[in-house]
Amino acid sequence: MAEPKVNDLMERIVSLCKRRGLVFQSSEIYGGINGFWDYGPLGAELKRNIKDYWWRVMTRLRDDVVGLEATIIMHPKIWEASGHTTTFADPMVDCLLTKKRYRADQIDPQSGMAYHFSGAEDNATASGEKPKTCGEAYSVLVAEAKQVEHARKVARDFYKQRGLGDPRLLGERTESVQNSTRYNPENGSLLTEARLFNLMFKTYVGPVESAENVAYLRPETAQAIFAQFKTVAEVSRQKVPFGICQIGKAFRNEINPRNFIFRSREFEQMELEFFIRPDEAIEAIAGSVARPEGAGHPGKPQPNWGWQMWHKYWVEERLAFYGEIGLPRASLVEYWQKPEELAHYARATVDILYRFPFSKRDDNGELAGEELEGVAARSDFDLSQHQRFSGKAMTVFDEELKAAWARLDDQKKTALTTRYFEGRRAYLVRANEPADRAERQAREEAAALANGTYIPHVIEPSAGVDRLALALICNAYREDEAPDEKGKLEKRVVMRFSPRIAPVKVAVFPLLKNRPELVVKALEVRDLLRPLMTVYYDDGGAIGRRYRRQDEAGTPFGVTIDFETLGEQGEGLKDTVTLRDRDTMKQVRVKIHELPTLLQEKIR
Ligand code: GAP
Repeated sequence: MAEPKVNDLMERIVSLCKRRGLVFQSSEIYGGINGFWDYGPLGAELKRNIKDYWWRVMTRLRDDVVGLEATIIMHPKIWEASGHTTTFADPMVDCLLTKKRYRADQIDPQSGMAYHFSGAEDNATASGEKPKTCGEAYSVLVAEAKQVEHARKVARDFYKQRGLGDPRLLGERTESVQNSTRYNPENGSLLTEARLFNLMFKTYVGPVESAENVAYLRPETAQAIFAQFKTVAEVSRQKVPFGICQIGKAFRNEINPRNFIFRSREFEQMELEFFIRPDEAIEAIAGSVARPEGAGHPGKPQPNWGWQMWHKYWVEERLAFYGEIGLPRASLVEYWQKPEELAHYARATVDILYRFPFSKRDDNGELAGEELEGVAARSDFDLSQHQRFSGKAMTVFDEELKAAWARLDDQKKTALTTRYFEGRRAYLVRANEPADRAERQAREEAAALANGTYIPHVIEPSAGVDRLALALICNAYREDEAPDEKGKLEKRVVMRFSPRIAPVKVAVFPLLKNRPELVVKALEVRDLLRPLMTVYYDDGGAIGRRYRRQDEAGTPFGVTIDFETLGEQGEGLKDTVTLRDRDTMKQVRVKIHELPTLLQEKIR
């Protein structure tokens, strides 16, 4: 029974998103386009608040991170260097009956009885003619042998599609099947063998659609950061360790867009590439490399931090970020990828998961969570690739390292050089450089390290704006009860967005719209607050209705201008308003001139 409830909850959330103009289908009047979504007035504000807060925390409040805004279409060589042209592909399978396409790795394993057929013959052949036949083998999986008639019906449908009017099935045999992913869970039909499908959207630059003009819509924002690393480092006068961050659109031709805006074909990413010294350089400078001890935030960055400490630092920083915008820690999962799940160049990756209502349940019956963000320690792979493919040096010169190296004893120098050499050689060999060239180049690079020159390593926290918007929407959604005008309890939907990211921060209501004195005052309050935050002015309908509308929009505060404001109940209350809290529904009286500071404190 748990499953329908979850789907029901998602349906209610999706319906609210549409009703309140948070998110709806792209190109809706033409029936929509699968995997593309538009954000309406409230959704656009929500997304902007997410991105603004991320940008503030990740760069404006830090000395060691700078921003970048690069183009979506870049030189196609970038995608060769990054590996996207060859390896950014998902295995896909097609249903042989419906032709629907699925990601092979998302097919749930199934068990049951498979009915195999060697082909079919057409009963509908006119008399005297040789019966039409189809020799294509086909299979159907059903949960139990007694569903044989269903299996035969599916098989007949399959052969009808192959041109037989009234197929008579041939060569039927059965087989008990365990945990197979060869069959479509929706109808039991056999699927095609898995084939790789590149997820990048291809286009042509210029008027000629030729191979040399092929370009791609970027599938991630990260590569522009790597490609522009040297320029940004120079113009910003940053020294390693430092980061470059970017927010922007990314495009992936997902085989199976699903779960509303969770997996779409056009989405936004917020990515940071934080460049650090290789551990050998840290050891030379600081004498040893600090390793994480125990759980929790490792504190202020220190000169002896190697990749492990920086990785841990960014995981904790990112978890704190989610808390600051209202996602409780219990709704998140910190998932450390297992060695066999890691990309070949990654040293460690932590996926930060949110327990979406549509997540699968783990063995304890808890929602297991789906990825919001990955925090990856990517070694020096990315910059090394761009150095190889562009022929441009991606190295930095580190004065401190050069000076520290001169102070090392010979034993230490040899140990660090050897370790660095081994790492670089391993990378070059994996990158298919001939062994002798890899050896020679790695030696040169190890010698360069001793002179203070290296390719920085990187820690990458990479988050999706749309997935985060969905997590915030799911987290905010509540159904409870609130009193109506007459004090009778009625059901209300309330979006408990954190004030920090709520689309509208405050609604301003004149108690009655047909009393010009109230309206004038209310417009004054609106104009006082408007330069500081998003304000919604609403004079339509009973005040209770107006509250309800704002509850559904997730507006955390409501300001009502009433007769007390005008001084009709005595001078003491003149120029005060009621301030209503969305969650507690409590109201307090506040002086108008105190509103800006008070509200700004709450939404900061
Ligand atoms: N540069 C690393 C990178 O792109 P990723 O795990 O493929 O890593 C990072 O993507 C984040 O981008 C994901 O954690 C997710 O939040 C978001 N994302 C990826 N594919 C998405 C899709 N099809 N729809 C929505 N968000 C997506």
